[in-house]
Amino acid sequence: MNTRENFGSKLGAILAAAGSAVGLGNVWRFPIETGQHGGAAFIIIYIACIMVLGIPIMMSEFLIGRRTHSNTARAYEMLAPGTGWKWVGRLGVFTGTFILCYYCVIGGWTLHYTLLAATNAFDGVPATEFADIFSAFVSNEWMPTVWLIIFMLMSHVVVSRGIQHGIERFSKVIMPTLFILVVLLVVCSVCLPGASKGIEFLLKPDFSKVTGGVVLGAMGQAFFSLSLGMGCLCTYASYFNTHTDLGRTALNVCVIDTIVAIMAGFIIFPSVFNIGMDADHLQAGANLLFISLPNVFQKAFGGVQILAILFSVAFYFLIFIAALTSAISLHEVTTAFISEELKLKRRWSALIVTAVCSVVGVLCSLSFGPLSGVKLFGLTIFDFFDYISGNIFLPVAGLLISVFAGWYLDRQVLHDEFTNHGTLNAPYVRVIIFILKYIAPLGIGMVLLNQLGAFSWLW
Ligand code: PHE
Repeated sequence: MNTRENFGSKLGAILAAAGSAVGLGNVWRFPIETGQHGGAAFIIIYIACIMVLGIPIMMSEFLIGRRTHSNTARAYEMLAPGTGWKWVGRLGVFTGTFILCYYCVIGGWTLHYTLLAATNAFDGVPATEFADIFSAFVSNEWMPTVWLIIFMLMSHVVVSRGIQHGIERFSKVIMPTLFILVVLLVVCSVCLPGASKGIEFLLKPDFSKVTGGVVLGAMGQAFFSLSLGMGCLCTYASYFNTHTDLGRTALNVCVIDTIVAIMAGFIIFPSVFNIGMDADHLQAGANLLFISLPNVFQKAFGGVQILAILFSVAFYFLIFIAALTSAISLHEVTTAFISEELKLKRRWSALIVTAVCSVVGVLCSLSFGPLSGVKLFGLTIFDFFDYISGNIFLPVAGLLISVFAGWYLDRQVLHDEFTNHGTLNAPYVRVIIFILKYIAPLGIGMVLLNQLGAFSWLW
């Protein structure tokens, strides 16, 4: 029955899934959350969230994909024929498409900033002007649009070549490049004078800053950062072969994602402290990447412009790669869905995704300029896509996935998949099932309520 491609190697599968996980979330949110919410205390809580929620849910997504060797929507239909569970799979495809529509806008920005850095455009710019440069760029009708289309086309080229020749081959080249860049940037940054203050800010444990809200924020961050709650990992797992150890693969992906996130903090804070900037008031998100950091990198090298240029180019290129590999995984979800459900060639289905997401992406992008007055539920188009997918769809889907795996699926199915039909020794299976049944639904339910503001009276 199975004429689909598989990943050709274990390493390829891990790198592709890690490519999905390592993305903007690791760079623009995790370091700031850590520094401002208790340093090592936050990291410990974050790692606990990854172990308790991240790994079990990632394993369930892997299970659903690998068991059925199908796109996400079909996977649920096969495992629960004739039930409403198919809507969870469809929600995954929908959420993936939704995220890609705004993610590609930011992907385009990273390309533009790589070019700005490479052409020394930040030289001599006063600190106060970086915000103006950024807002002039994003509100322009043309530039961001062109960049987002270039970014989408890059993703298109990889996805349309298929699994082994496209996604796997690309991941095997680009992920090691990403790791090398991360290490180089960390080394340069920690050698800056005053770096130790930055490291202290990042790591010094302060449990008094850890409120209930911080814990739930850490769970939400873990979820987004690991690309859980939608079709990405499930779709990638549908290309795993029968020997892949799902537990070990999930562990590897989580470790890689967390290490990169922590190292991003080591890149950012030493330079922030080196120039004496107030790290407590840095804002996570686009402001950090495109307003605060270009200024920081300009000044951090004491006027040796060539170092500032090299560091900035490497940094923006790094986040561009991180964003691209995540975008590819989002692109693949919908491409696999369209090509299998409509029986279209991969090339054509990838093209449909590229076209639709580019058009909607342009609307998101224009919401920083000419369309800034268009509001959906009080939010600009971009913010609406960002808010609804990250804060609502992802946790809802995650909640349903854990209920599906923990309560609906037969225990034997979980056992078979996690132990590869009894060939692997996986003593942890009972614990995973317990978590999926009780802990994960409770935890994610609280994250969801928190994101909807239900606990705002508490913290
Ligand atoms: N994990 C990615 C990040 O950290 C974002 C992402 C979410 C990618 C969901 C794919 C799916 O930025």
